[in-house]
This record gives sequence, structure tokens and C-alpha cells, in this order.
Amino acid sequence: MSDAEYDRLFRELQALELEHPSLRTPDSPTLRVGAPPLTAFPKRTHAVPMLSLANAFTDDELLAWEERIVRIAGTEVQRRGYSAELKIDGGAVSLTYVDGVLVHGATRGNGMVGEDVTPNIRTVRDVPLRLRGRRVPSPVEVRGEIYYPFDLFERMNEDLVRKGERVFANPRNAASGSLRLLDSSITASRPLRFFGYGIVAGDDAQLPVHLQTDVLDLLEQWGVPVAPHRRHCASMAEVIEWARQVEHEYRADLNFAIDGGVVKVNEIALQQDLGVIGGREPRWAIARKFAPDIAETTLLEIRVNVGRTGALNPYAVLDPVEIGGTTVTYATLHNEDLILRKDLRVGDRVQVKRAGEVIPQLIGPVPEQRTGHERRWHMPSRCPACGTPVVRDEGEAMHFCPNAACVGRRLEAIRHFASKGAMDIRGLGESRVAQLVDAGLVTDVADLYDLTADQLQGLEGFASRSAEQLVAAIDASRAQPLSRLLFGLGIRHVGATAAELLAREFRTMDALRAADEERIAAVHGIGEVIARSVTEYFADRTSAKLVDRLGVRKLTFEEPVSAPADGALRGQTVVITGTLPTLSRQQATALVEQSGGRVTDSVSKKTSFVLAGENPGSKLEKAKGLGVEVLNEDQLRQRLSQRG
Ligand code: IVH
Repeated sequence: MSDAEYDRLFRELQALELEHPSLRTPDSPTLRVGAPPLTAFPKRTHAVPMLSLANAFTDDELLAWEERIVRIAGTEVQRRGYSAELKIDGGAVSLTYVDGVLVHGATRGNGMVGEDVTPNIRTVRDVPLRLRGRRVPSPVEVRGEIYYPFDLFERMNEDLVRKGERVFANPRNAASGSLRLLDSSITASRPLRFFGYGIVAGDDAQLPVHLQTDVLDLLEQWGVPVAPHRRHCASMAEVIEWARQVEHEYRADLNFAIDGGVVKVNEIALQQDLGVIGGREPRWAIARKFAPDIAETTLLEIRVNVGRTGALNPYAVLDPVEIGGTTVTYATLHNEDLILRKDLRVGDRVQVKRAGEVIPQLIGPVPEQRTGHERRWHMPSRCPACGTPVVRDEGEAMHFCPNAACVGRRLEAIRHFASKGAMDIRGLGESRVAQLVDAGLVTDVADLYDLTADQLQGLEGFASRSAEQLVAAIDASRAQPLSRLLFGLGIRHVGATAAELLAREFRTMDALRAADEERIAAVHGIGEVIARSVTEYFADRTSAKLVDRLGVRKLTFEEPVSAPADGALRGQTVVITGTLPTLSRQQATALVEQSGGRVTDSVSKKTSFVLAGENPGSKLEKAKGLGVEVLNEDQLRQRLSQRG
């Protein structure tokens, strides 16, 4: 059942129960929050229940909510306004700190009893193991949401597809699934993140703040990340404007899933007066949900794209349809088995889902709408790019083009190498790569490093500035660590995670090349299949030569050891805004982190400096207002070279 459908049915049931209380059964879903805990984890009873939220789907419903609470608690509730926050779509957790030290981490479970997943929580790098500052009550619970960033989610799913394993339907499932793995070392390999949104103190008198907006500031002071775009709204009109901006402006740029906003009465004393409805939902907060992001359209065609490893990826061409403000034309289909399992036929009416920035997913056909003209689909027997007969290894979900010189593979190999998760070469997208290959300027990724601005200027769409910028971006990518290079090489079965494990273990390209299959398979998290693929890759003459050529071009064949204790930015908090002249956001973040600094999303008095580029957002203004120092990219580099 889709979330939207669940929400609709749940509300219908709530309304019915309200009208006919005698019909409410003891096992009604309205009396329960979430799923019961698994038996495999120790249970943990929450000292204060972890509540759920009522929903408002329209502005009118928000206004009706305000009217209700004003009726109960008086116009007092409007005095301190509202705290408007993003509603992170992940897994809710409660973190218990004693004397500032993390001692327990638990999932929400059914709201009363959750699962103690402390070892897994400890692996989440955003979760402070110790809270900073002197005003920390003890014990204290920090509540918030564990989530899976979009870009890394997509990388993991691509990894899983390649391995023929089941993919996660969305980042929320990936977050709560990873949190509930019995082996915390696997959780550790998943890049989970955390945002805090609440504090539960044993004794409220110990809390030095009286407003929810101050709670969020306090969390930041303690070192807990808080979601961006939070706003102190003086009136419901401001809340409504904020919600509109979130849905139509901010949402598209977020690297994590949200399913709406949360609006909270700001004054904590008033929250307590308003209380809880039926032990389930607070009266003092409401979720402003977005329009459902599912649409129905026609599946016009299934096409096949050749991946860099030769994997043949089928994708759907749809009759363009608008979902949540963007037009969707393509959806991934992963592999032939998945198409058969869903019984998708060309010409079918289909349901498509788009969650934020995640690649649109095809949920399935609507068989009732079939006319009889729909056609079943099968993988073509020859590669659509080069015509070579395709192969499918036993036990593999994917079909492959075995031709190493296939033009489709070559294009994809370069595009992947340059992509954000790999070498992150700004300005080198799909069409540019095709242009360079067509012009005969590059045949493989090593050729990229020989390109000159003069050569590029001869091509359509390049001015002298853009040509120089691309050459500079390629040049900058030489500094990427071994892990990104290994991922970028597109070695079969080596996804981002495996590349990182290998780089961390072997540290240098030479050490990895010298290792035999058995040694590689012995690395935790690396299996025989990956080990064989890696040794085969280096044994292959063409790829060995490519790696040698990359070495000659001075790419970094090393993985840096984590942040040096005496880094130039040790203990500093940095906010990045705007477009920097040469560094991408990811590269700038890596630079700061390698020097011992931390990058956060919002500017506060505690921010050490703001790194600003072209078209900076409101963060720059805020920094100026607070008197926080502002640096440009050059000044950052100077500062980094001052020490360490
Ligand atoms: S407040 C006391 N604030 O939404 C009210 N919840 O439907 C409940 N969530 O699983 C908590 N972002 O984990 C609150 N800024 C936010 C939130 C948030 C996400 C989740 C929460 C819970 C669900 C409630």
C-alpha cells in the first residue's frame, strides 16, 4: 500500500471511530504506532512515549488545527509563534546520554517499547558520542531521525543491482533496515546520518530553554546536527508561506527525503497544557504533508542502456507525467527479471513514484486498464550499442555485453568516472563526454588528463572560459583519494562501498595490485566475487595499462589516513554556500574534513567561518549579521597551507 493510501484509510478509520467510539476494537491501528519490535534486539521501554503526528494535507487544515488549539489553550498559543521544521522521512530514534555520554540508542518501535540498537547507532557518524557544553542535563534523551542521503542511497542501490541483490524501495526503508541489522559492522558500512529535533529531560526544570526553537539551537550547541530550513514563524500565515517554500523551492535541493513539515507550538509550557490525544498524537504539533508523489501514466517503450561494465540496464520511457512539480519521462527498471516479476508490458498504464530527488520508480502496472494490445518484453539478444550477442552468467540478474571495446560501454565508463560519487569532475556530464568521444579526443579516462583548453575551444558550445574551467576541474580530480578512483574505474562488482573498504585496507594502488585473490577476499565486507573481479581486472592487459597511464598522469594512488589530529581546521565548524570557482561542494567538504574541520548546514554564532562562492544564499547574509567571518576559496586554501 502506498503511504498516501495508508494515510487516507487511517484518517477514514479515525473519523469513523470518533463518530462511533463503541466500534473501536482493541487492536485498531489507531491505538498503535509503528510496527512491534523484533525479538532479536533487546527491548527498550521509552521513559516518555515516542509520539506520532496528526496530518494536515492543506493550508485550511493547518488553520483548522490552530483554531482548535486556540479554543483549548487560548490565544496564548500564538504569543510565541510556531517552530516550523522539516519532517525527515527516515527512522525515529531516541538517544540517551548520561553525564553527556551516549549510553543507549533505541528505535521508536510501537511508541512505547522500541528496540535497543545501541551498537548500530554508535556507527552513525552524525550522532555525537559525547554532548558538548556544560548545560547538559543528565540523564537526557535526544530524539531525532536517522536517514539515508539520496546520493549515497542511489549508489548503494546501484551496487546491490550489480550484485543481483534486492534493492531498497526508498531511503526510509534503507535507513530503518540498516539500523536494524544484527551485525553492526554492516551498519557501519552504510552512510547513515542523523538530525535531532527534540530533547526529553527527566526533569524539565533542568532544561535551560523554554521554546522549541531554542531547543533546536541548544541541540546544535551540544553538537547534534539539526535539519536545515527551520524557521521561527510568528503566525500561521508565515507557517503557510514557509511550507510553500519548502515544497516548491527547498525540497528539490535537499540530499535527503522529507515527507512534509512539522509545525509545533513554540512555547514548551503551552505544549504541556495542550497534551496528547489518545496517547498517540500530541495536540501541540501537526505534520503538514505534501501532495502524494505518485502518478499514473502509460509505459510507451522499454529501452536498454549499456553500463560501463557492460551491464545492460533496461529503463522505461513514459508518456511524460507531472509528479510533485517535475515532469517524469524515464524510470529505471533494473533488470529483465524485475520486469517479468512485475508483469510489466509495453503499452500498460503504470503507477510511477518519485520521492524527492530519487530516480523515479515504476511501482507496477494497473492490469484492470489493459486493452489486450499490450506487449510482453524481453531483453534483446544483441547489444543495442555494438550488436555483440549478449550474455547472462549463471546466478546473475543482469545481462551483459561482453565486448570490452563496445562504444556504449566506453561512453558510460567515462561518464561514470567523472560522476559525482566517483572523481566528481564538474562540467563533464553525459553530453560532454559523448562530444569528446565523437571528436576523437578521448577513448578512455586517462585521455581526459591530456586535454588542453585549446583542443576544447574548437568544440561546439565551448568558450575559452568554459574550456579552461573543464581542464581545471579535470586537473583538480587528480587529488581524489584512491577510494574514489577505484570506484571510478568501474571494476565489475566494485561499488562505492567496496572501493572504500579496499582503499582503507590496502592504502595504495600498488599494495592492492600486488594482493592475491585470497588476501583481498579476507577483507571484511569483501567477498570472493569482488576479490576475483579485482584480480581479474589488474591481470587484464588493457586495464593494467590504463591504470599505469593514470599513474603517469599523477593521479592520487593513495588513501589518506583520517583527519590529522593537528589539522589546520581542527575543531572548527564551517558552512559552505554558493558555487565555488573550482571546488564542488563535496570536494570542499572533504578538504575541510581532512584538515580536522566539520561542515554544517546552518550558520550560527558558533560557526567558525562561512566559505562563500558565487550566488550565495541567505546563509551569507546571516553570517554577516552575526559577524561570522567569510572566506572565499583562495582564502580557504591559504588557511589550509598555513599549518599541517
Ligand atoms: S516531533 C512529538 N519533529 O515524524 C511529535 N517529528 O509522524 C513527534 N519526524 O517518527 C515528533 N521530523 O520521528 C518531530 N522535525 C520533526 C520530525 C519528526 C521527522 C518524524 C518522527 C516520527 C514521525 C511522526
